[in-house]
Amino acid sequence: MGNDKMNKPAMPDEAPVMEPQRQFYYIERAKELVSERAKKCGHPLTFHVETFGCQMNARDSEKLRGILDTIGFVPVDTENADFVIYNTCTVRENANNKVYGRLGTLSSYKKKNPNMMIALCGCMMQEQHVVEKLRMSYRFVNLVFGTHNIFKFAELIVHAMTSDEMVIDIWDETSQIVEDLPVERKYHFKSGVNIMFGCNNFCSYCIVPYVRGRERSREPKDIIREIEHLVADGVVEVMLLGQNVNSYGKNLDHPITFAQLLREIEKIEGLKRIRFMTSHPKDLSDELIEVMAASDKICKHMHLPLQSGSSRILKEMNRHYDKEQYLLLVDKLRKAIPDIAITTDIIVGFPGETKEDALETLDVVRKVRYDSAFTFIYSKRSGTPAAKMENQVPEDEVKENFDMILKEVQSIACEKAMELEGKILPVLVEQINEQDDTLVTGRLSNNSVVHLNGDASMIGTIVNVELTECKGFYYLGRVPEEVL
Ligand code: 5AD
Ligand code: SF4
Repeated sequence: MGNDKMNKPAMPDEAPVMEPQRQFYYIERAKELVSERAKKCGHPLTFHVETFGCQMNARDSEKLRGILDTIGFVPVDTENADFVIYNTCTVRENANNKVYGRLGTLSSYKKKNPNMMIALCGCMMQEQHVVEKLRMSYRFVNLVFGTHNIFKFAELIVHAMTSDEMVIDIWDETSQIVEDLPVERKYHFKSGVNIMFGCNNFCSYCIVPYVRGRERSREPKDIIREIEHLVADGVVEVMLLGQNVNSYGKNLDHPITFAQLLREIEKIEGLKRIRFMTSHPKDLSDELIEVMAASDKICKHMHLPLQSGSSRILKEMNRHYDKEQYLLLVDKLRKAIPDIAITTDIIVGFPGETKEDALETLDVVRKVRYDSAFTFIYSKRSGTPAAKMENQVPEDEVKENFDMILKEVQSIACEKAMELEGKILPVLVEQINEQDDTLVTGRLSNNSVVHLNGDASMIGTIVNVELTECKGFYYLGRVPEEVL
């Protein structure tokens, strides 16, 4: 295992070798260090975690918060804090640029607060050229680590707090999954749950397999135990997380399928809603469709990334399905689960993409009629096979196709949303509305957002709501009188 890239501080290390005991030891050490420093400063030390990217990162950030909370830091909403950590994403180039831009602001805070510590972690740190750039030009950063050793956060904080140098610890890979470390959830009634890490698919445009490593599934018993604890703690909805949940369990000592795992999770009493993401079309089984159709708890929502509607481009992307197979799969889903919402990801401007290819994507958008879609402009990620392809598409051509597809996606999504107007459907109330505190905001089973009259006592409960008005991408609703 490659933790050889770490700047090792001179410190006697009597820590246990086994995990998670080792981290519990460092949590205690960190508590002492934080408390000493707080005494010196005359106030509690504050922290801020900033998350870029996907739901996986959001879940990882809850783990970071769990540690910071446990060792005595106090959360604040500003980046003008004693400990700031950026959990980064690198799936598209602009995600990287954002981080460099914001590091500038952090350095000006640090000039005023020399005790401030700045840490960077996540996918972007798994790229060698990023770490080199930080080492050369961002000397004020205290701690840099990657995706494979996030479980070592407490240990790394202790090293960073006792070292004058930038502490860098990046692993190339890991087979380890460390269970039972503290987590600080953002919502008390819903939670992400990792079921697997990494990706084996190597879609030719995607950097994820390089920065998140090979696929590793968690043991079903660990997942079930975690969800049982969450439910006992007030959670009613879980989101099962993996880059490709449909291949869950294939590499376990006792292999099980994702559909079998769902059946087990469904049995957990008190759990009301189950979501999952992301599904790769090539691995979506009939068994999964059956389990979803028969389930009361699995939400009627499938995020099924298309990426492109052109069979030729799909081949170049190494996606292992073609346009016809994708459309057949959608038909099968809709036949088995008629009210299912289908959402997707689309990339426009992959190398070699012509107008005809873009029109094929448009054709799939029209045939499937997605409830919503994330549409991305292709971003060249160095190290991926697509970055070496010679036929990169000129920007103005990409922009034209992107606008054409986005317009269609949006107008269809609007029409689809209208279909539910007037219906009475269950909504999980999530929070007080951000603009108007006489309203609360929640989500339908299909993941659409609903605003309705209400108060904080409703947060975390599921109420039947009449969708009185569709506003395009969200609904206004009310609790019908007969329910009150
Ligand atoms: N350029 C643009 N979009 C990308 N995605 C992944 N890699 C790239 C890239 N190089 C998109 C895919 C994926 C989503 C998470 O991000 O659509 O499904
Ligand atoms: Fe990237 Fe493809 Fe893996 Fe998704 S399935 S993370 S797009 S390589």
